[in-house]
Amino acid sequence: QAGALVDTHGRIHRDLRISLTDRCSLRCTYCMPEQGNEWLAKTSILTVDEIVEIATVAASLGVSTFRLTGGEPLLRTDIVEVVRRIAAIPGADRPVEVAMTTNGIRLPELLPDLVDAGLGRLNISIDTVRRERFAALTRRDRLDDVLAGIAAAAASPLRPLKLNAVAMRGVNDDELVDLVQYAVDVGAQMRFIEQMPLDAGHTWDRTTMVTREEILAALAERWELTPVPGRGGAPAETWLLDGGPHRVGVIASVTAPFCGACDRLRLTADGQLRNCLFSIAEYDLLPVLREPFTASREERIAERLRACVHGKLPGHAINDPAFLQPPRGMNAIGG
Ligand code: GTP
Ligand code: 5AD
Ligand code: SF4
Repeated sequence: QAGALVDTHGRIHRDLRISLTDRCSLRCTYCMPEQGNEWLAKTSILTVDEIVEIATVAASLGVSTFRLTGGEPLLRTDIVEVVRRIAAIPGADRPVEVAMTTNGIRLPELLPDLVDAGLGRLNISIDTVRRERFAALTRRDRLDDVLAGIAAAAASPLRPLKLNAVAMRGVNDDELVDLVQYAVDVGAQMRFIEQMPLDAGHTWDRTTMVTREEILAALAERWELTPVPGRGGAPAETWLLDGGPHRVGVIASVTAPFCGACDRLRLTADGQLRNCLFSIAEYDLLPVLREPFTASREERIAERLRACVHGKLPGHAINDPAFLQPPRGMNAIGG
């Protein structure tokens, strides 16, 4: 396809993850310090018009999936409008899909409007189903709100519904089976994530990361796991539980990187394009959007998107001794 976002390693980019805010209603220890971060300046946060303008150009270049993330995307007061307007963008060769990754807390009030606006899929983060543990890990006693959000999602037409848990040694590695059982009971797919070196305190350590292999060993104690082929560019590998139909997923970014099939770009809430979770370089769209130029804005946004794709490295360097964690925290990159 002419003008498509193909990088120097032949990867076609069809997925744009849009972080809508760096703020969040929780304070997960692995993501943010207790007091929160120094928030992005309000004036630098993209408006809904700016987001839609960027997404429209991306769609014209072949992007067909838009995933809204944060921080917590449901904290945006204009979230329903963001979904409605992105869902209405004409795709280049297929209809666009709008998905969201959320902590779930505001879903009970917002979900009907989000579905009406065209939201297609939901992933909800839940690292533990034990109340005290949840309060300690997120520094907020809001497990009941998250469970209510998941119940609302389960009762909605959005499928597949996925739940995400970062597996952490000594924190929740004794409840992996319970989490899967909970997901099965609500009709969702549980996915376990290997923790990546993107934590707030830069304290990530290989020994506290629970590996894909360990996750599978723990689950195999309870279920027979059958691999599901045909993963495509998705980060998660999936397995059937006892022959199906229920499934579990593992996102093994560290021990089994999937960068070779990566089709993702990221846009931060303050208008920076990133070609990787771990990229140091960012491609600034704010001047294109906010400074007066005579040249076509559309062409300049397209040029930034192409530059970002062109600069993409073959993969992350987590396993390289010289690895450097990006300066932005996960809450400001968008997960
Ligand atoms: P699906 O479209 O449902 O497959 O969504 P997803 O798994 O891509 O998105 P989600 O936001 O639920 O992310 C789950 C976990 O995967 C998070 O820890 C993300 O940081 C991680 N993740 C998502 N995309 C990438 C990626 O391109 N590279 C790496 N290394 N991790 C990713
Ligand atoms: N490593 C892996 N996943 C992470 N998430 C947040 N920080 C990390 C990390 N360091 C997860 C969240 C959420 C998703 C968007 O990213 O728990 O489920
Ligand atoms: Fe893509 Fe970077 Fe994730 Fe690899 S680490 S899959 S290149 S975003």
